[in-house]
Amino acid sequence: MAKITSVRGFRDILPDETPKWQRVEETIRKVFFNFGIQEIRIPVLEKTELFKRGIGEATDIVEKEMYTFLDRGNEYLTMRPEATASVIRAYIEHHIYEKDPVAKLFTIGPMFRRERPQKGRFRQFYQINVEFLGEEDPRIDAELISMLMYLLREIGLGDLKLEINSLGCDKCRPAFRKKVTDFLKNREEELCEDCQRRLVTNPLRIFDCKNTSCQEIISGAPVIPDFICAPCREHFEKVKEYLAILDIPFTLNPTMVRGLDYYTRTAFEITTRSLGAQNAVTGGGRYDGLVQMLGGPDISGIGFAIGFDRLISMIPERDTVYADRPNIFIAALGEKAQGFAFSLCNTLRRAGIRAEMDFSNRSLKSQMKRSNKLNCSHTLIIGEKEMEGGTAQIRDMNDGTQESVDINDTGSIAKSVLDTV
Ligand code: HAM
Repeated sequence: MAKITSVRGFRDILPDETPKWQRVEETIRKVFFNFGIQEIRIPVLEKTELFKRGIGEATDIVEKEMYTFLDRGNEYLTMRPEATASVIRAYIEHHIYEKDPVAKLFTIGPMFRRERPQKGRFRQFYQINVEFLGEEDPRIDAELISMLMYLLREIGLGDLKLEINSLGCDKCRPAFRKKVTDFLKNREEELCEDCQRRLVTNPLRIFDCKNTSCQEIISGAPVIPDFICAPCREHFEKVKEYLAILDIPFTLNPTMVRGLDYYTRTAFEITTRSLGAQNAVTGGGRYDGLVQMLGGPDISGIGFAIGFDRLISMIPERDTVYADRPNIFIAALGEKAQGFAFSLCNTLRRAGIRAEMDFSNRSLKSQMKRSNKLNCSHTLIIGEKEMEGGTAQIRDMNDGTQESVDINDTGSIAKSVLDTV
């Protein structure tokens, strides 16, 4: 029969790769714990309206990339393309703001966007998402960004480039929008079809167009930091000051607009040379109107999401096999020894030892081969003689030394394994 493969842009993360993901996630959880960021777990499926309103109808994500379907209940549902809107929905739905004026939340999980798959871009990808809610002070912007830089370094990333911009607020952005529209109106014909439409629906999105001729045109357009209002300007100046105090180098990128409409004021992205400038490893920003827009009180927020897949691809390979290998292989020869090894394996595992055996009762040579293949640190060899005498040799697979152990004394087997791991 013909085999069934995975869906384009959806991939399997195989057992060889998962230890790396687990280790990174461990580091992340540790850092978040130290910084007082609590975990929230949210559904993968939401009402489509949430993303339309949250991310913005005239964005690429909502216009072209969402996995949306009409549910049997005649309701439009969407596989979440990002986590922020969902986190805010939960924040409002459960009145989290009543419990604490400042909430620091993280969530890790898969997101879905129907983009064109390529290196570092998938249709199901994973994000590590953080939101700080309830604090407007520019110090929190700097604190969040500095925590993010620290986190990426802890994970082992170097060569990071932080770019920041201010996107203004709903008071100053309309004037800027008009400036850009006026500027582009003269060259409307030269814009791509998408951008001609964007000129009416969402002209700021033209800054993100990948089309070279649109890029050339937009490169001469007015830029947002020149038009932001005095309070936004002051906020941005302070963010820059605090970043400098925290020793975080940054580059100003006045054309960075981010792909989601909820952003206000501070926006940022981090790229590394290994991924190329196109592929940010993380991006985020402030979204002071979003909680209200989704039906909650007037509470400001700022957050980021790290592309987990991209992060993993940038971490140098370490000796993962060594760290994850089983502790002991029990080479059991003969029926009696096989039976004994079966329960010994079980007992050792319950004592915290990773034990393996081979049910095939093959020759010692092939069982030793299997032990080597699994990269076990120790092998215990039990045959008929050992069953009768009650002692067996345990071999250290690194240096070949052997030690005699009482096969009925699980504690001493465990000890001799753990002492040399
Ligand atoms: P975003 O810039 O759309 O922001 O995505 C954040 C990160 O997710 C990107 O920098 C990238 O590393 C990764 N990413 C996005 N799309 C893909 C893809 N198709 N394949 C692989 N990785 C991808 C957000 O999603 C915002 N919700 C971030 C945020 C949180 N802003 C405030 N709070």
